[in-house]
Amino acid sequence: MRPLVAGNWKMNGLDSALAELGALRQRLAQAPVPEAEIMVCPPATLLARAREVLAGSDIELGAQDCHPLVSGAHTGDISAEMLADAGATAVIVGHSERRIDHGEPDSLVNAKALAAYRAGLTAIICIGETEAQHRDGETLDVLKRQLRGSVPEEARAANTVIAYEPVWAIGSGLTPTPADVAEVHGFIRGVLSQLLGQNESGAMRLLYGGSVKPANAAELLFVPDVNGALVGGASLKADDFYAIIEVY
Ligand code: G3P
Repeated sequence: MRPLVAGNWKMNGLDSALAELGALRQRLAQAPVPEAEIMVCPPATLLARAREVLAGSDIELGAQDCHPLVSGAHTGDISAEMLADAGATAVIVGHSERRIDHGEPDSLVNAKALAAYRAGLTAIICIGETEAQHRDGETLDVLKRQLRGSVPEEARAANTVIAYEPVWAIGSGLTPTPADVAEVHGFIRGVLSQLLGQNESGAMRLLYGGSVKPANAAELLFVPDVNGALVGGASLKADDFYAIIEVY
């Protein structure tokens, strides 16, 4: 299966990220990495400009969140259809920063994933345990609960990517060991198999996210059942993001 390396800019990118994106595009034109699918997920206000920077390239555009509904009286929200109209082909849903900062429960993440399908977008559904849950040995229980609640019955390998992001690894420089990542990703695939059947589960891409950097990309991305990365901070610099992509 073709791995996906997706960059989540979060609420960053007004300063230099579009210039960095141009540099990444150029770098990939000179030294392509056809083994990997590449995506960037800027804030919604930068989608149109990022789309211009990427016109004619293979780098895909994703968004960071969507509302479950198509349109209506929802001030400040953006529908999946609007994201598709702005050029996105995917949307991240259920990122821990949305779950924690905005109190988003699994049921809402599930509804957002359904909205993504309705608009023809791939849903990148994020799951991950907090530091306290990790410490208390609850990781697998938490992930099972999040998968059961957040992944719609309609999820297929063609429209869904799962991103495992331990909350304690995000932006902290800490990462699980490759053996821990292997165990967790194998577990996630097993739960998906119960939910969606072996065929869809076996073909669905499982990304690892949390402090992925050029220095640790090779050891994290070749772990069994890891089919790519969701990269935060390191996706804002062309050199760093390219160095991660090029491990493939
Ligand atoms: O979605 C990506 C993310 O949460 C990881 O962030 O900065 O640790 O790579 P970072």
